Formats: sequence, C-alpha cells, structure tokens
Amino acid sequence: MSTTIKKLTAEDVDALIEIARESWKWTYRDIYSNEFIESWISEKYSKEKILNEIIRSLSNFDIIFLGALVNSTLTGFIELKIIADKAELLRLYLKPEYTRRGIGKLLVSEAEKIMNTKCIAECRLYVHKQNRIGISFYKKNGFEVKDIDGEDLVMEKNYTY
Ligand code: ACO
Repeated sequence: MSTTIKKLTAEDVDALIEIARESWKWTYRDIYSNEFIESWISEKYSKEKILNEIIRSLSNFDIIFLGALVNSTLTGFIELKIIADKAELLRLYLKPEYTRRGIGKLLVSEAEKIMNTKCIAECRLYVHKQNRIGISFYKKNGFEVKDIDGEDLVMEKNYTY
C-alpha cells in the first residue's frame, strides 16, 4: 500500500464529501440518526462550502486542507484552521476500511510539519465524548484532554521551538 499526502484541490470535492458521509455514518452510528447525519453532511459539507475552503487553503495561509491518497484514490482528509499562533483541528476523517493503517497519523504529522513552519504553539480539537476510536487516536498522537464542552472533549497539544 503506497500512501501519499497532498494538498486538496477542486477536483477532490466530490470524493471528499463521500468520505465524510461514509465516515460519519460509521463513526457516529450509535450517536446520531441517519437522518441527522444526512442533514449535517448536506449542510456542513455542501459542495459550495468545501470548494470554498479548498480554494482558501490553496490561496491563503489560514486553512490547512490535506488529503491521503492510497494508490491514487482519496481515502481521507484533515482540515485545520490557523489563527495567529494557534491551530484548531477541525476535521479528520478516513474511509472506514482504511482506518488503523497509520494514515491518520501520517495526515497529522504532515499537518504538523506545516504548523511547524508557521511556529504554531498549540493545536486544539473537539471530539465527541463517545468517539472511543478518535479519543484513543488523539491520545496516542500527543493530545491531552483539557476540558469538556457539551457533548465534546476538548483536547490540546502544545509545541515548543
Ligand atoms: N478500532 C479501534 N481503534 C482504532 C481504530 C479502529 N478501527 N482505528 C484507529 N484506531 C485508533 C487506535 O488508537 C489505534 O491504535 P492501536 O492500533 O494501537 O489500538 C490508532 O488509532 C491507530 O492509528 P492510525 O492507524 O494512525 O489511525 P487511523 O489511520 O485509523 O486514523 C482516525 C485515526 C482519523 C480517527 C480514523 O480512525 C477515522 O477516520 N476514524 C473515524 C472518524 C473520526 O472519528 N474522526 C475524528 C473525529 S474528531 C475531529 O475530526 C476533530
């Protein structure tokens, strides 16, 4: 299996939305109804919004949006937003059948290389408190639980230079 990480482009929009839909249905199957997930995907992952975020990530410096290709097929993505010297990991989703093969770790470490060049001191994220796999993954990648915000755990990782 050869995995490569690349900046997402406009051509990836449809595949990305499908990955988000599949991953949400798998990840949150015991948490949210199918109906809720479909409406969330059509609102938050509308073609227009995702395209806009990809274009911003290609032309600006405040969004990092990367995809993982396995044998040239898009299998997952990571999106972070940068504000001054802080980052928020907004989204990290893989196709379910590609989980637990080190792709998530690769996406995080590529994003960290970019954060490093921008001297980002702290990265935070929100993960659903019932998302056992997500929480376990983030802990293994150096994030610590700092707070609880409604249904979510707030996790953080600090970087020193
Ligand atoms: N079952 C149990 N643990 C798993 C699984 C699985 N199917 N997949 C990943 N993990 C966790 C474990 O901690 C595992 O370590 P272990 O094998 O020693 O037990 C570790 O992740 C493996 O690391 P990677 O292979 O690098 O993880 P992966 O490539 O699967 O990426 C990710 C992790 C992104 C969480 C992926 O599993 C995924 O897409 N999950 C569903 C979506 C999700 O929950 N995303 C996070 C939402 S929060 C947010 O986006 C801010």
